[in-house]
Amino acid sequence: MPRVSQLYFKTAVIFLIVGIGMGLNMAISQDHSVIGAHAHCNLLGWVTMALFGGYHALNPRKAERRIAIIQYCVYTAGVTLMVPSLYLMLLGNAAMEPIVGIASVITLVGVLLFAFIIFSSEETVVTPRAQPYR
Ligand code: HEM
Ligand code: HEM
Repeated sequence: MPRVSQLYFKTAVIFLIVGIGMGLNMAISQDHSVIGAHAHCNLLGWVTMALFGGYHALNPRKAERRIAIIQYCVYTAGVTLMVPSLYLMLLGNAAMEPIVGIASVITLVGVLLFAFIIFSSEETVVTPRAQPYR
C-alpha cells in the first residue's frame, strides 16, 4: 500500500477512536451537546480519510506524487484543528468560533486539492525500480 494510504488509515483510525470516545461519553452522560464534534470527527476524520487513503491505494501512481502528501498534510491539519475547537465551542467556549472557521477553510482547501488529484491525469514521473535478478 502507498505511504500516503498508510498515513491516511493510521490517522483515520485515531479519529475513529476519538469519535467513538465522544459518542460513548455523550451516551453515558446523556448530554448530546457535542454531537457536531462527534459527527465531524467520525465523518471528516474516519470516513473521509479512509476514502482518501483507499483512492490512493487504487491509484498508486498518483499516490507517489508530491501533491498527494501535501494534500494529506493540509486536510489532516484542517480536521485536527477543527475537531477539538468545535468540541470546545459546543461546550460553550465562544472564543473558539474563529478557529473553527479557519479550520473549516483549511479542510475545504484539503478537499479542493483532493479534487485536483482526482481530475488530474495518471501520468507521473516515477523513478523506475531496478530489475530483480533472475
Ligand atoms: C460506539 C460508537 C458510537 C457511539 C456510542 C455513538 C453515539 C452517538 C450519540 C449519543 C449521538 C447523538 C444522537 C442524538 O442526539 O440524536 C450520535 C450522533 C451521531 N453519530 Fe455517533 N456514535 C458512535 C459511532 C459513530 C460513528 C462510527 C459514526 C460515523 C461513522 C457516527 C456518526 C454519527 C452522526 C453523523 C451523528 C449525528 C446524527 C444526527 O445529526 O442526528 N457515530 N452518536
Ligand atoms: C469543512 C467542512 C464542513 C463544515 C464547515 C460543516 C459544517 C456543518 C454545520 C455548520 C452543520 C450544522 C450543525 C448544527 O446544526 O449544529 C453540519 C452538520 C452536519 N454535517 Fe457538516 N460540515 C462539513 C463537512 C461535512 C462532511 C464532509 C460530512 C459528511 C461526510 C458532514 C456531515 C454532517 C452531518 C451528518 C451533520 C448533522 C450532524 C450534526 O447535527 O452535527 N459534514 N455541518
